[in-house]
Amino acid sequence: MDKGGGVREMFGRIAGRYDLVNTVMTGGIDAVWRRKAVACLDVAPDARLIDLCCGTGALTRDLAARASAGGVVGIDFTPQMLEIARAHTSAKNVEYREGDVLALPFDDASFDGATMGFSMRNVVDIGACLRGIARTLKPGASFVNLEVSKPRNPLMRRAFYAYFYGMVPLIGRIVGGDAAAYRYLPQSLVNFPDADTLAALFEANGFGAVRCVPLMGGVATLHIGTKAEAPVAPLARAPEAVAP
Ligand SMILES: C[S@@+](CC[C@H](N)C(=O)[O-])C[C@H]1O[C@@H](n2cnc3c(N)ncnc32)[C@H](O)[C@@H]1O
Repeated sequence: MDKGGGVREMFGRIAGRYDLVNTVMTGGIDAVWRRKAVACLDVAPDARLIDLCCGTGALTRDLAARASAGGVVGIDFTPQMLEIARAHTSAKNVEYREGDVLALPFDDASFDGATMGFSMRNVVDIGACLRGIARTLKPGASFVNLEVSKPRNPLMRRAFYAYFYGMVPLIGRIVGGDAAAYRYLPQSLVNFPDADTLAALFEANGFGAVRCVPLMGGVATLHIGTKAEAPVAPLARAPEAVAP
């Protein structure tokens, strides 16, 4: 099975307890960070927004409150995560779609803003992913990426790694009931670019004015980029592109 297929299969297994494990693992701070990510989007209440790799919809629901007179699409390739998202979402301005963020089934310049939470580490081609997001955004629209990161301060990094690589698999085994999945999740940080390198990837793949906002000493980082005016290199798209 390719990496994408393995990731989808793993999230399918852990979907039922995904939210609970997150809350236990972070002491609920993940919800605060998602709200902060949404607050970084400079959009009007009637904006059309997209939440990429929406999972169980936690960030999507925050976006829906922000775009109360507009609409939000949450897209994810794991049906079990989407099933929970749909069950937990009562807002009428949210639509969930099954799809791969590496082949976004939307027309160019469809959205006024985009978010992605705790997912870039799982994507097999970060550059292609960023180009696809830029393609679907209107010029000047923002993309906010919230992701676990590698703290710059060596002491902070050491303390965080002890927790992330030691405690997370334990909590995942006890609370989530899936030791293998919660061994993989911290490992996915190992080859993930540091905050500066990710910012450079934003710049190289369709975004300008890129800002990094470290959270809790850099254990997570918000990357905020604005879709550049210049055209983005074409990317493979799903055959039937439809408006959101
Ligand atoms: C760690 S969860 C994050 C969920 C949610 N954004 C949150 O804040 O909790 C990662 C999600 O990314 C999805 N995912 C990973 N790679 C994907 C891809 N290429 N296309 C669509 N979804 C993807 C997984 O199915 C999973 O639901």
